[in-house]
Amino acid sequence: MASITLKNVIKRYGAGKTAVQVLHGVNADISDGEFIVIVGPSGCGKSTLLRMVAGLEEISEGDISIGGKVVNDLEPAKRDIAMVFQNYALYPHMSVFDNMAYGLKIAKVPVTEIKSRVDKAAKILELGHLLDRKPRALSGGQRQRVAMGRAIVRQPQVFLFDEPLSNLDAKLRVQTRLEIQKLHRELGITSLFVTHDQVEAMTLAQRMMVMNGGHMEQFGTPEEVYNRPATTFVASFMGSPPMNLLKHGPNADFGGKPGAIMGIRPEHLLVGDSGWAVQVETIEMLGAERLVYCRMGEESLIVRTDESLSSAPAIGATLYVTPRTDRLHWFDADSGKRL
Ligand SMILES: Nc1ncnc2c1ncn2[C@@H]1O[C@H](COP(=O)(O)OP(=O)(O)OP(=O)(O)O)[C@@H](O)[C@H]1O
Ligand SMILES: [Mg+2]
Repeated sequence: MASITLKNVIKRYGAGKTAVQVLHGVNADISDGEFIVIVGPSGCGKSTLLRMVAGLEEISEGDISIGGKVVNDLEPAKRDIAMVFQNYALYPHMSVFDNMAYGLKIAKVPVTEIKSRVDKAAKILELGHLLDRKPRALSGGQRQRVAMGRAIVRQPQVFLFDEPLSNLDAKLRVQTRLEIQKLHRELGITSLFVTHDQVEAMTLAQRMMVMNGGHMEQFGTPEEVYNRPATTFVASFMGSPPMNLLKHGPNADFGGKPGAIMGIRPEHLLVGDSGWAVQVETIEMLGAERLVYCRMGEESLIVRTDESLSSAPAIGATLYVTPRTDRLHWFDADSGKRL
């Protein structure tokens, strides 16, 4: 197991005038045994960062250390890491056992040791009864677990995951997520997990790096990121539905300064007999709760209400809502940074 340090990590593709910079100086101190999620929209640089830790991409500037040792010039095979990708190709002609054992055979690990490691991984992943099967006779989730087994048997210092669950259906994704959590509890191996799914990030992360356009906008626990988003981007990316961000609303009434954006989460708008008069535009019934999409002048606003709220508001009706003043967020309108 090992700590990981990213020090002003910059990535440029190409050279000279045609060079494009895709990572703009990422800093992070990751402790031994931590489970870190790298989350952000498509193209923000998540895979690039992960591949740089793996040694599959050159580092343009800055340093990456694993276990206190700078690995910038260390080839991938010497970094003691194992990676699980979205497109984990299993060998179709090999059994589950052989798929998991293959890397160890190549590394000339003794046969008894291979058997013991594969059996242990199979037990953790509940693949014990499937060791003789070929991949084509497995479900998607089982194949995914074999791919993880292949990484586990190597007993690496660091696990790197790049959207390993995105090929699975919703139910299987939740199930595999729980398995990954269990795996981490049992093995305690430092892990970097890339996803663009904010729910996956919130549920898996001990800490998460929220990326946007090659910048790390926040690095914190799920609670910190949700309760104290560092920027308007983080506020609207983490949380579903996103935080309401009001530019022209009655901000001054709540102590807002000129040029400040008021943020309020949909669950912190209380429906009552007085307050802001808003027009109901659309309603989404989600079972236990209801999302009411409203308009207030130039602003659109989402209100999350309890399904038990006696009567559902009608489209076109006026609702009166009041923000919880202890749950307001303020951001600078120019920089988007939390004030
Ligand atoms: N070989 C390359 N040459 C030039 N630009 C590249 C190259 N590889 C990636 N990029 C660019 O770098 C940026 C980051 O790409 P990256 O694959 O890291 O994004 P990502 O966050 O993993 O996105 P996704 O969620 O879609 O997988 C993108 O804008 C991409 O177009
Ligand atoms: Mg990617």
